[in-house]
Amino acid sequence: MTKNFAPPSIAAFPQNFVWGVATSAFQIEGAATQDGKGPSIWDDFCRRPGAIADASDGNIACEHYQRWQDDLDLVASLGVDAYRFSVSWPRVRPGGTGAWNEKGLDFYERMVDGLLARGIRPYLTLNHWDLPSELQSQGGWAVRDTVHRFVEYAQGIDRRMGDRLATITTHNEPWVMAVLGYEQGIFAPGLKSRAAAMQASHHLLLSHGMALQALRSQGSKARLGIVLNLSPVQSATDTEADRAQAHLEDGRLLRWYMDPLFTGSYPQDVLDFLGEDAPAVRDGDLQAIQTPMDFMGVNYYSRSVVSAQGPWDTKQSGLALTDMGWEVYPEGLTELLVRMHTDYQVPPLYVTENGGAFKDQLVDGKVHDADRTDYIARHINAVAHAMSQGVRMEGYMVWSLLDNFEWASGYAKRFGIVHVDYATQKRTPKDSALWYAAMLHARKQQWAQGGGPVPVAADSNVAVAGA
Ligand code: FCB
Repeated sequence: MTKNFAPPSIAAFPQNFVWGVATSAFQIEGAATQDGKGPSIWDDFCRRPGAIADASDGNIACEHYQRWQDDLDLVASLGVDAYRFSVSWPRVRPGGTGAWNEKGLDFYERMVDGLLARGIRPYLTLNHWDLPSELQSQGGWAVRDTVHRFVEYAQGIDRRMGDRLATITTHNEPWVMAVLGYEQGIFAPGLKSRAAAMQASHHLLLSHGMALQALRSQGSKARLGIVLNLSPVQSATDTEADRAQAHLEDGRLLRWYMDPLFTGSYPQDVLDFLGEDAPAVRDGDLQAIQTPMDFMGVNYYSRSVVSAQGPWDTKQSGLALTDMGWEVYPEGLTELLVRMHTDYQVPPLYVTENGGAFKDQLVDGKVHDADRTDYIARHINAVAHAMSQGVRMEGYMVWSLLDNFEWASGYAKRFGIVHVDYATQKRTPKDSALWYAAMLHARKQQWAQGGGPVPVAADSNVAVAGA
């Protein structure tokens, strides 16, 4: 078991703070065509030559569709309060419209019940990127009709299982879907049009707001919100050009989403930059987008450094890098959370994803991923720092439970706190999982004993399934 990691100041976190682990459907389920599932844009994108670094796909992934019960036992053995997962839209409604697939709905309903039976709160995401291909063939998120299809999808899921969900997240990371998918073309659907990307981002936001209204009016019992990928954007140097570029990037990444969600308008500097590529916005759209949320999630991995000279090379910063080449920069998480709290009237916040890919070695049934444990511990402390500055935080979730299909990087990048051997599908908790479980266990003891700080025994014997 990993030694010597400064225990995060768990005393800083209230008893009802929600600790969790996160996954998403396409990245773990496999069973791409089983039991009536329809194709998604990621199934299609994986077939494009050169799109995925290791030419892999999601056909098998972690076989979670078959192994979900064991995986939930594993989640339970970690001692987490919550599990964040997503529904594959084309598994429950294969064409995105028309007939629903009962077998798909049953799968997620059993999973929700399986979580509750294990004492774990289900945090469900509706859209973690795997849009039904059929809707893409009509324009995907760039066309307004998809907004209405999404609202129907949200209503269907809520009707079926909303009474048992802790939260429903509409979208995971609209910036990624719009900019990487429609503008840069490095993620599905692989388009290269700024105008389409910005229209897609508007439709994602609009469908979020309209889904919230529809779910509220049908009496949804779940708490409702959205998850954004955000980073502090820093200027590489103090030159005017770099600072202007950083301000624009901050506008495109953060203010483009936060402003309409909380202030009812798109940032003018970004609209000016976009010119004719700015989205068509109809009367009432911005009011719908501003529909109040019950919570909001932030996925944080690193800061973003911007230079007017072109892409910033993270190697030059001297900071430790993950296997993605991303800088380890926990201070950025504190900075970001404090800014969200200061600049916007945000609801209670969650870190819905945080973690790192590292070059793990499985040796004698163990993975000594000290770098990942260190990463997670430092970011949990960064959350504590934000809370000490008045930010209302409700939870923290590690990305990810399992090593999985890391989108365009395929299976080469491992983010799991549990190792997956893709040849045998064997799960092996890494040291980081044992550490996380030990921390959560110590926390439970702390509260059982009436609160107060309890140090995390680095070698405490917490039983994690498969360790
Ligand atoms: C986020 C995604 C998640 C995962 C992590 C590493 O952008 O939401 O699915 O791939 O990055």
